[in-house]
Amino acid sequence: MFDLQEILMRIKKPPIFESSNSCIWTEEYISERMLEAHLNPDIDAASHKIETIEGTVKFWLEKGLIKPGDRVLDLGCGPGLYAERLAIAGMRVVGIDQSEAVLSHAMKQAKQKNLSIEYRCMNFLELKDEGKYDAVLQVFGEFCTLPDDDRDLFLAKIYRAVKPGGIFLMDVSTRKLRVKDGLKNNWYVNESGFWRPGPHLVLEMGFDYPDNDIWLDQYIVVDQGGNTTTYRCWFHDYSLETLTPVVESAGFDVGTVWGDLAGAPYNSQCDWITVSLKKTGSCCK
Ligand SMILES: C[S@@+](CC[C@H](N)C(=O)[O-])C[C@H]1O[C@@H](n2cnc3c(N)ncnc32)[C@H](O)[C@@H]1O
Repeated sequence: MFDLQEILMRIKKPPIFESSNSCIWTEEYISERMLEAHLNPDIDAASHKIETIEGTVKFWLEKGLIKPGDRVLDLGCGPGLYAERLAIAGMRVVGIDQSEAVLSHAMKQAKQKNLSIEYRCMNFLELKDEGKYDAVLQVFGEFCTLPDDDRDLFLAKIYRAVKPGGIFLMDVSTRKLRVKDGLKNNWYVNESGFWRPGPHLVLEMGFDYPDNDIWLDQYIVVDQGGNTTTYRCWFHDYSLETLTPVVESAGFDVGTVWGDLAGAPYNSQCDWITVSLKKTGSCCK
């Protein structure tokens, strides 16, 4: 039965970061489609294009941000596209992701390529490592998907996990990117596709919370049996001015700032901000 009540409820603008009833990263069918998106070398979805990833790792190595022998933690590592390249360059890498689909691919690849990478299938918000890493990475804006309370707890955990003198290298999207992409307002019916293996209807909607720099892309999916599921992708965008106090209150110093992961110069019009955050203090905050 087509659940019109669910649809009527979900088309109202929800409170900021109200969760939905499903997760695009862990649901079995969708996570397999996500894996395909990660592995498509030509699209910037789920992971960057392969040439961007290679340029990024080359830049990190040339700049000496990460060095052979370093212990590196990649949070939300996906199918290990960075982890593998760092392991080949001589780093000791741990990758964490909550998706079984991407991690089982990553593990198979590491085995085939004889790479010693430790992959852990877990929620990165439950990280417990202490003083272990020369560098912690979080790549492709996952930081922006966290509500403020989770973000602050997460930053405290990352701070604990980094060795004194180590770095947290991460990127965030800005309002410029969001406004350029525009609010979604669309519907379509597919025989089969990203959301479902069989016929389904998708209602795409976007909601903007400009006073909070927050944005929601929402997808209501109705399958052939009339089952209605809502997926929400929340984004908290940052500027350098809004990001700096957040990371400083967790104890990090803002080191170098770039306009993308591969070292483009930063300016206030950039779609993305990449920062190298330093743990200069010796103890946990
Ligand atoms: C946008 S993708 C980026 C993947 C990878 N960093 C890359 O750029 O190739 C985000 C990844 O973070 C993972 N993720 C999201 N939230 C997570 C959480 N709370 N704990 C662990 N992994 C998470 C997802 O499963 C997904 O693989």
